[in-house]
Amino acid sequence: MKKAIVLCAGKGTRLRPLTFTTAKHLIPIANKPILFYSLENIARAGIEEVGIVVSPHNAEEFKNIVGTGENFGLKISYIIQEEPKGLAHAVWVSREFLGDEDFMMYLGDNLILEDLGKFVKDFENSDCAASILLSPVKDPTRFGVAVMEGDRVIKVVEKPKIPPSNLAIVGLYLFKSKIFEGIKNIKPSWRGELEITDAIEYLIEKGEKVRGYIVYGWWKDTGKPEDLLEANRKILMETTEELLGEMDDKSSIQGPVKIGKSSKIVNSVIRGPVVIGENCFIKNSYVGPYSSIGNSVILEDCEVENSIVMDECSITGVEKRIDSSILGKGVSVKGSQKRPASLNLILGDMSRVEL
Ligand code: DAU
Repeated sequence: MKKAIVLCAGKGTRLRPLTFTTAKHLIPIANKPILFYSLENIARAGIEEVGIVVSPHNAEEFKNIVGTGENFGLKISYIIQEEPKGLAHAVWVSREFLGDEDFMMYLGDNLILEDLGKFVKDFENSDCAASILLSPVKDPTRFGVAVMEGDRVIKVVEKPKIPPSNLAIVGLYLFKSKIFEGIKNIKPSWRGELEITDAIEYLIEKGEKVRGYIVYGWWKDTGKPEDLLEANRKILMETTEELLGEMDDKSSIQGPVKIGKSSKIVNSVIRGPVVIGENCFIKNSYVGPYSSIGNSVILEDCEVENSIVMDECSITGVEKRIDSSILGKGVSVKGSQKRPASLNLILGDMSRVEL
């Protein structure tokens, strides 16, 4: 199998306001866009060519950040889906790129750390029309759900009110070009989308073999803010020490910490796992476990823990610890001792503040 499509169109409404300016797939986790982890994993599975399905409004952002794929050992092209009319529709608009070859479909907002190589090899040596990854979940109603008999999938249904099993479809699928026959024969679902789940169900009903692989390892659909923080914690657990910046004698570093070039730490405590980018200035502060601090960030007289702070943010003079928070690019948070004690807020659309 040489080709994959990675689906990154759509609006990402549950991650607003972050997704007003950045596609959810490009939000950094441990200072690296979510999508990069997926592209690295896809390349490791032996895929050579990737078509990234994007919306017209974010195509440029993807091209700028992801580029030609050279860095991943992949040849990347971009496929525009005019409107997010469903996962099956995204496959349909990719038909020229895919031709009649077998292919991998990867949902760009899913973070799957599982090795995909074995999954691909087994599919290549089989006579299955499709192969899907499945994972037992607590709340199957939020996912596509599969029913298995042995290793064969005998039914799939999208976001069922009464789930027939607890096996959720994880965002990775392998297909033969027969899937196009399924896509041609389905109608939009109750949510108005052409569902890939329905196209798979069509193949099953026609007697085609669909294989299911249950993964027990960690994966995440990064649709909500708390999912991003969980993914951030998971990735940071693997952090190893790398100190490229400068630190004075009054500062201390505990546990695995990465500090980028030209960053300066003054009279502060950094307790890993933590990743700090380049050109940051951190003074009289505490940066606690599971924090990712981007490039050119200023932290002064503050405490941050279990949070994602993106490039060019500045947090100064804040008394309470900032915890479980996500700050988009260039955000400024500043404490004030002025009287009357008041809150002075300039928040963009759909910002969220808990005081
Ligand atoms: O996360 C796993 C789930 O993903 C599966 O269990 C479901 O069966 C599957 O339908 C899908 O459900 P979601 O409702 O979570 O899909 P979502 O709309 O979030 O889209 C998934 C990715 O595909 C996301 O990166 C955006 C992209 N996309 C989505 C649509 C609707 C496209 O590229 N084009 C589209 O038209």
